[in-house]
Amino acid sequence: MRGKLTVGNWKMNGGLTANSALFSALRTGWKAPKGREMGLCVPFPYLAQAREALSGSAIGWGAQDVSAHAAGAYTGEVSAGMLVEFGCRYVLVGHSERRQFHGEADADVGAKAAAALAAGIVPLVCMGETLAERDAGQTLAVVGRQFDAAAAVLGVQLARIVVAYEPVWAIGTGRTASPSEAQAVHGFLRQQLVAAGAAEVKVLYGGSVKAANAAELFAMPDIDGGLVGGASLDAKEFLAIAAA
Ligand code: PGA
Repeated sequence: MRGKLTVGNWKMNGGLTANSALFSALRTGWKAPKGREMGLCVPFPYLAQAREALSGSAIGWGAQDVSAHAAGAYTGEVSAGMLVEFGCRYVLVGHSERRQFHGEADADVGAKAAAALAAGIVPLVCMGETLAERDAGQTLAVVGRQFDAAAAVLGVQLARIVVAYEPVWAIGTGRTASPSEAQAVHGFLRQQLVAAGAAEVKVLYGGSVKAANAAELFAMPDIDGGLVGGASLDAKEFLAIAAA
């Protein structure tokens, strides 16, 4: 059984005081029901605070990006080894905002996922099509290309990742993929994973997940939880999603 995983992506949000309240509300409110896991991907400067607030709880934490390099002259970058020192369990790689605003290509995403795995961190490898690509009927071709690029770099390590399918047109727009639209892509990704010998990899859905739509999305056979942006900043909402 794959179980469900719900990970919050805070994006570039937070502040020491607000984080403290959110961490403590989640820590108190999360009863870790059987087969359910929760994680939070916070901005780099808050990793120490996450470790302090969440150590010994059932909630894992992590970052939103990682360098493909181990060390050296890469100004502004953060290595997987550094994330390990702050207790990270997860790291997002290839989020569409990184691909869009920071020029990350499929090859970069694969290299970052490999760097995370080599350090013992689970990469949440994000993939998804834009609205133009969906309208052009290219959804599966785009997601398949993104998947293949990661699989080619990772080889047998593919079995240790988490996949996050996030249609770009559903991120932060309030427009969620319907459960059947999402399931169609998740089912396709499941087939690719099975063919690659990685059938047990979780495939999370992301894009305007809320407490009001989480249960019907997570009821789909190949949706193994959520990657949640905006709604992860509200403890009550996020707890309800993670328990859905
Ligand atoms: P959203 O973001 O839940 O605010 O749509 C999801 C994401 O970008 O991971």
